[in-house]
Amino acid sequence: MGVLVVYESLYGNTAAIAAAVARGVRDAGVSVIVAEVAEAPDVLPDDVTLLVVGAPTHNRGLPTEASRTSVAGVASSPSLRSWLTGRSLPASIRVAAFDTAIGGFWAGSAAKAIGKLVRRGGRVKEMAERSFVVVRGDGGPRLRDGELAAAHAWGRLLAG
Ligand SMILES: Cc1cc2nc3c(=O)[nH]c(=O)nc-3n(C[C@H](O)[C@H](O)[C@H](O)COP(=O)(O)O)c2cc1C
Repeated sequence: MGVLVVYESLYGNTAAIAAAVARGVRDAGVSVIVAEVAEAPDVLPDDVTLLVVGAPTHNRGLPTEASRTSVAGVASSPSLRSWLTGRSLPASIRVAAFDTAIGGFWAGSAAKAIGKLVRRGGRVKEMAERSFVVVRGDGGPRLRDGELAAAHAWGRLLAG
C-alpha cells in the first residue's frame, strides 16, 4: 500500500494540513508521497492505493482561476481541480478529500466539491471527506488550535 497526498494552498494552511496527514500516514508505517499540485505526478504510481487530495474552500467550493487570482501575490500554478479532472483513477483506489475552511453554516466545503468530482467518474469505491478549520488572523488565515493534531490522527486512521 502506498499513499499519495496532493494539495493546493494559497496561504499555507492546507499545505500544513497535508504535511500533518502525511506524517500520520508515515507513523502508521505506510509509505507516503506528499506533493503540491505543480509537483504531483501525471500518472499515479502503481503502488498507490489511497489518494488524499486537499484544497482551501473558496466561495463554498473548490478554488477557481478567478478566486485564486483574487489573492494577491499568489504564483500561478495548476489548480487541484485541473489536476483531478485530468486524471483517470484506477477502480480499486480509495480517495480521501480534505479542505480548510472558516467554517459555519454557509462556509461550504472544497472537500465536498472534490467528492462530487471524484464520484462523477463512478469508479472510486470508497471516499472520505473532512474539513479543517482556519480562523482569520492579521497576516491572513491560520489554523485553529488542534487542527494539525487532528490532521495527524486522520492520516493514521486513513492508513490503518
Ligand atoms: C477568494 C476566497 C474565497 C473564500 N471563500 C470561503 C468560503 O466560501 N468559505 C470558507 O469557509 N472560507 C472561505 N475562504 C477562506 C479560505 O477557506 C481560507 O483562506 C483557506 O482555508 C486558507 O487555506 P490556505 O492557507 O491553504 O490558502 C475564502 C478565501 C478566499 C481567498
